[in-house]
Amino acid sequence: MQPDSPPLLDVRNLTTTFETDEGVANAVDDVSFSLYKGETLGIVGESGCGKTVTAMSIMRLIRSPGHIAGGEIILNGRNLLDLTEREMRSVRGNEVGMVFQEAMTSLNPVFTIGDQLTEVSLYHRGSSWSDAYDCSVDMLARVGISDPHAVMTSYPHQLSGGMRQRALIAMGLVANPGLLILDEPTTAIDVTVQAQVLNLINDLKKEFGMTVLLITHDLGVVAEVCDRVAIMYASHIVECGTVHNIYHSPRHPYTLGLLASIPSFHLPKEILTIIPGQVPRPTNYPPGCNFHSRCNFATESCVIHEPTMTEMSSQHHIACWNWEDVTPPASLHRAGIGDRNCE
Ligand SMILES: Nc1ncnc2c1ncn2[C@@H]1O[C@H](COP(=O)(O)OP(=O)(O)O)[C@@H](O)[C@H]1O
Ligand code: SF4
Ligand SMILES: [Mg+2]
Repeated sequence: MQPDSPPLLDVRNLTTTFETDEGVANAVDDVSFSLYKGETLGIVGESGCGKTVTAMSIMRLIRSPGHIAGGEIILNGRNLLDLTEREMRSVRGNEVGMVFQEAMTSLNPVFTIGDQLTEVSLYHRGSSWSDAYDCSVDMLARVGISDPHAVMTSYPHQLSGGMRQRALIAMGLVANPGLLILDEPTTAIDVTVQAQVLNLINDLKKEFGMTVLLITHDLGVVAEVCDRVAIMYASHIVECGTVHNIYHSPRHPYTLGLLASIPSFHLPKEILTIIPGQVPRPTNYPPGCNFHSRCNFATESCVIHEPTMTEMSSQHHIACWNWEDVTPPASLHRAGIGDRNCE
């Protein structure tokens, strides 16, 4: 689903580093991806892979000791890295909004949800306070809050985790940005509410034609709402493709490992495994492929040479020397994962 028009967001060779006591950490290293209008792209990887830093870089919210060391972030045809902080303030919320990972820390504890939502609505929509208030109530109802008036007068600590998450999504939506970044929107909430939030994202995509960048560590979540998926490992994108590509013909060993660790798809026991070992720290990446110490397909050259991105098809890219040897188990095909988005 890549139209002729240029992408809404085009991230090219983004590199973001942090100065740490252990040395310079490339938390995001040479990352490129694009996102077209109306599309939902999932960025998936284990904790510590660089997903949040990627999102915070797009928002230009990286603070010292971090900085964006290279690349371009083209949004609506402009490189955000060329804008002044004042120009960026207008981009945030109007053109791109972000729902942050920590719902509790993103809401101000001393103001009611109503005050905070109405403030955002007023700022971005320029309406009267009473219109902005009504719009906020409406948005809370749309994100599935059954008693929005009561929630408007509540303080963040008076709400459950799921309600806070919904309030935050409402806040992201009330600004009506062209691009909404959702960072782990379902991580802090229970499975039932998680399903509701995913349905909500789907409804909002249809209703507002919204473009969404969805960040998650859970490949199962992505199957529900995304059109394309970028798999991130240790600061790099290692595989990128349509939902169909990723769920039916994954070719990166890490993607295979992530798929095999989704318990909810009832995969046969023999492939229901977790990936051994841990993501290395960015100050301590090994030579060659960052994944080699955890990879069943590693060969000698993997330990020496960093893999480059190979185009398997126009929509499917893989950074692995041995991708031709990586065949997904037949049971993945039978599991029906990702079928909803594969037509
Ligand atoms: N302020 C910071 N200072 C130093 N390192 C950081 C900072 N923020 C993030 N990092 C490092 O960057 C890497 C990627 O982090 P992050 O993007 O938060 O991962 P993810 O969102 O995928 O879990 C991690 O190794 C993390 O420790
Ligand atoms: S390049 Fe080598 S170590 Fe890296 S994922 Fe591919 S096979 Fe595994
Ligand atoms: Mg994160």
